[in-house]
Order: sequence, then C-alpha cells, then structure tokens
Amino acid sequence: MTESKSNESERQALVRWRSDTPGCGVRIHLNNAGASLMPAVVKDAITSHLGRESLEGGYEAADAQADLIAAAYRDVARVIGAEAHNVAIVRSATDAFALALSAFDFAPGDVILTSSDDYISNQLMYLSLAARRGVRLVRVPDGPMGGIDLRALEDALAQHRPRLVALSWIPTNSGLVQPVEAVGALCAAAGVPYLVDACQAVGQLPVDVRALRCDYLAATARKFLRGPRGIGFLYVSDAALERGDHPLYIDMRGAHWEEPDRFTPVDGARRFETWEFAHALVLGLGAAAQYALAVDPGIAVPRTQGLATQARQRLGSIRGVRALDRGPQLCAITTYTVEGHQARDLVLKLRERGINTSAQAREDALIDLTRKGVETLLRVSPHYFNTEDEIETVARALERLIS
Ligand SMILES: Cc1ncc(COP(=O)(O)O)c(C=O)c1O
Repeated sequence: MTESKSNESERQALVRWRSDTPGCGVRIHLNNAGASLMPAVVKDAITSHLGRESLEGGYEAADAQADLIAAAYRDVARVIGAEAHNVAIVRSATDAFALALSAFDFAPGDVILTSSDDYISNQLMYLSLAARRGVRLVRVPDGPMGGIDLRALEDALAQHRPRLVALSWIPTNSGLVQPVEAVGALCAAAGVPYLVDACQAVGQLPVDVRALRCDYLAATARKFLRGPRGIGFLYVSDAALERGDHPLYIDMRGAHWEEPDRFTPVDGARRFETWEFAHALVLGLGAAAQYALAVDPGIAVPRTQGLATQARQRLGSIRGVRALDRGPQLCAITTYTVEGHQARDLVLKLRERGINTSAQAREDALIDLTRKGVETLLRVSPHYFNTEDEIETVARALERLIS
C-alpha cells in the first residue's frame, strides 16, 4: 500500500473508532491502562441484557441468550488464538491468576520463578504462598536495558527446577514489554508450566497462546480490550486440562459430584468458573471481543505505539518532567515523574480539565519504583482511538499546571 493510501485507511479507521465510542466526544481519555472507553455496542449488549433480566427473570434471560453467551466464549478465544473450551470467564485478571495458581499443589521448597516487574497482586500471592506453603520465590534478574534477562532465566530454570514460571507481559506501572514468547520457549524446553498475566496486553498487542506456549493466561475485559469492569477471563491450555488441573476451590459449575466422596472436573476450562455469573457482563465482554476482532492490528498497533512515543517525547521534554519507561520494547503505557508534584494531585487537576490519566505510588510497584527513585508516577496510556492533538492537549495542560 502506498503511504497516502495507508494514511487514508488510518484516518478512516480513526473516524469510525471515535464515532463508535461516545466517550471520545466527552473527555480526552488517556487512562486505557486503567479502564478504556467502551464502544457503544459493548454498553448496548450489557444494558439490553439487564433489561431482559428485569422483564423476563435472570435465569430465563440467560437461557434465552444461550447462543449469544456461547458466541462470547468463541470470540474471546479467537482474540487470543484459542478454542472456546479453553476459556473460563471469571471476575477479573486477579481472580484468573489466583485460580491458575490454585491449580498447583505447591509443597514446601517448590520454586516460583518470576520477575521484579510482576504485578503487585501477583507478587502478594507469591509472598502469601511463601508464608503459608513454604514456596520459594525467585525473581530472575533484569537485563541491562530492563526486562527479564533470558540468559539468567535459562540458568535459573536449570538451577532451581521451578514448579512454575509466572510473568506479567506488560507491568501496570511502565511501558515495558516482557519477551513472553522467548520465555515460553525456554519453559517448554525445560518442561516447566508457564502462567502469563496478559492483563495489559490483550487488546493492545496481538496475542497468540500457541506462540506463547503458555499453560495459563490471565486477562481482564476493561483495559485495552475495551470491555466492561468486573469481568475477566482465564485461558487454560489443553495440556493443563489433560493433566487434570483444576482450581483448589472447585464449584458445582466446574465439577460433577458423582459419589458422596468423589467428584470429577468438567471437561473444559469451565472447571475454573463458578456457577453465578453476571451474564450481562459476559455479553459485554463478548461484544468487546467481537469489536477487537474487527480492528485491524496493522493500523491499530503502530498507531497506539506512535501516540505513546509522541507522549514520551513531548511530555518528557517538559521542564521538571522525566519519562520513566525503560526496556528493549515499549508499549502504550507511558509514565512520568513530575518534580515537586504528587501524581495523584495532577490526575485530579487534569480530570477537572476533561483529561483522564492515572497515578501510581511506590508501593504499587515497589521494586521498580524504588529502583527508579520515584515516589509517585503519572501514567498516560493512549489507545488507537486517541489523537495526536489529544496528546498535545495533555502536554500543554501539564505545562500550565506545573509552571
Ligand atoms: C499487569 C496487571 N496485571 C493484573 C492486573 C489486575 O487486573 P484486575 O484488576 O482485573 O484484577 C492489572 C490491573 O491493573 C495489571 O495492570
């Protein structure tokens, strides 16, 4: 495609994405790593099901929408290159991650290998497993440019023979993109199960669980996938299902109670689900997955990364502002420290001016922010529907606020 044709395709896609997203006309939304703006079709899927529940009854409405609910599983699966039977729909990425961890009967001395950049709640779960089950937590060192050092990981796999490798693909607090495929290849070669937290990756980057070679992948609906709050999903590989993995606290949806003292897990990943469901949100998640499948990654991915690069350069060049992201590959999450200002105050002042961003404190990403010498950071996370003008507007607003 010639450059002018590709510019024209991008322009048309941008117009369409923005007109599909009523929130684009209301605010400058640069908090997609927190929760993105839902397209109208996602909101409509949710509200129309709530309407049915209120008129027909909750159980009856779910039965009536069984085909759409089944389609939601298929569409979520397609977003990550899986089959519907590999998808469990759960409350959040944290829920998905905890369910996956609970499938392992950790014994004292078992090692979990992870990184210094893994998400706060995942780190807390490892520490809880260390305290309660005697698990040893080993954080693989970073390479010189940031991100997990693959050579050090290879050595750690040989030295510790871990029970599990768990990695956050993109941490919540920086633009770092971990080399998840290379890690998956090393885990496969070592025969070690691999759990990926893809919470910030799904909807932002192409995801293919076959290329990742992971056993589990945890994700949420509300971030770059643009679904509703309060729902997420867990991918469970065929290998994990075949070896009989199931969550510790299995529920009546996940198992058959065959004899008073015996149960068998159901066939697919639904063994990780619980019976009660927010079906309206399942349909919202399905609509978001369908929407994501229609977005051309050849346009959306470079566009989002271009906006992030613009933000890092523009905001990072403001006097008193330092861009913090480090790593061989960076993504749409951009982060800054602003001299003499608490990030939370800046977020509130920007919000008053119609601009959504977010803030994090040192304890949200203790290791990384201590290493960077930062108490609070301002996070600006564009998505493909944002514009270059919006990045310029936030930069000018920040300049005025801190001058
Ligand atoms: C990298 C990462 N993992 C996990 C989570 C947790 O997601 P949830 O709030 O859906 O449990 C987040 C949330 O910000 C995240 O950024």
